[in-house]
Amino acid sequence: MKIDGIPTRTLRPHPREGVLDLIDQTRLPHALHWVRAATLGEAAHAIRAMQVRGAPLIGVTAAYGLAIGLLADASDAGLDHALVTLGATRPTAVNLHWALARMAARLAPLPPGERPAAAWVEAAAIEEEDVAQNRAIGEHGLALLRALKPRRKGPLQLMTHCNAGWLATADWGTALAPIYAAFDAGLPVHVWVSETRPRNQGLLTAWELMQHGVSHTLIADNAAGLLMGEGRVDAVLVGADRIAANGDVANKVGTYLKALASCDNGLPFYVAAPGSTLDFACPDGRAIPIEEREGDEFRLVRGLDHRGTPSALRQLPEEEAVGNPAFDVTPARLVTALITERGVGAASAAGLAALYPEADRCNKDLPPSSGAVRNAGGAQ
Ligand code: MRU
Repeated sequence: MKIDGIPTRTLRPHPREGVLDLIDQTRLPHALHWVRAATLGEAAHAIRAMQVRGAPLIGVTAAYGLAIGLLADASDAGLDHALVTLGATRPTAVNLHWALARMAARLAPLPPGERPAAAWVEAAAIEEEDVAQNRAIGEHGLALLRALKPRRKGPLQLMTHCNAGWLATADWGTALAPIYAAFDAGLPVHVWVSETRPRNQGLLTAWELMQHGVSHTLIADNAAGLLMGEGRVDAVLVGADRIAANGDVANKVGTYLKALASCDNGLPFYVAAPGSTLDFACPDGRAIPIEEREGDEFRLVRGLDHRGTPSALRQLPEEEAVGNPAFDVTPARLVTALITERGVGAASAAGLAALYPEADRCNKDLPPSSGAVRNAGGAQ
């Protein structure tokens, strides 16, 4: 993806210095600011505080975070500590646990002295695979968009939710990859971008679409159904944080409502994700841990004040109880198709088995997800 016309990735590893530079997404869309992770703690903080976010990018960052951690302590205890620290940062995106399990499988058998160098190489391999897979998702998705185009005079009208774009991956994105592929191929597209309360990841999507020159319009989350009902949407494309063995999809909260509205309006609802987002150890969506985030994400509204200084505005008193589940589950029956790096398939056990015949191995050996899950009362 291009920033100011220059091809750019969302992270810059520096193996010789043993550090990782990351775009601080909490500063976007107002400022493009890079932060440096020079310790295991800083890498874990970047993921937990959502300076980096989006399932694939969380996985790549965790892999580099582990490499950074091993520079300080590559013993068995150091490796375990780094795996536990990074694994506890966010619970829903399975790419995090997938990347850590892959790093552990590669590094644990090595003598400690060989681990740091091998860790940087493995993390770089995960990054490169992410880029290649997203590019492939873009090509497979483009074929679907081309097939939809005859329905619409003028630009194809696509809707997305949250940010499953360049910023959520090392490059290209998942749900936005077909959109960038279409734009680059000269297929006219316009994107309806939902704001995605309370963290407003839609603003990140709008920012990166603007950087690449793709026509788009921001809407409030609640406007999505109206636009679909008025015939102003041709398809919905979203990403995923975890796809269960039966094809149920966990993604940013609000995805389920878009899937329901798509179904009611007879619109295709596509979920784009790489193999690292599949979790065959989760039989269905009910087994997916849903992250409950702190209530102040909801009680405070963040932006720039009239002087252009980043600030937070309190919209609810501190003691007001709020629920802040960060993800929801869209049942497989509402998903028209999954767009993966291996092609397009049904969101079902059979569809996944056709795309991933080695499925019985994918992510089955992951440790149980750690970290915060929804509290029983749904309030905090
Ligand atoms: O809480 P976030 O911003 O990390 O949630 C991100 C999403 O829900 C994305 O849609 C998902 O990770 C897919 S990213 C390619």
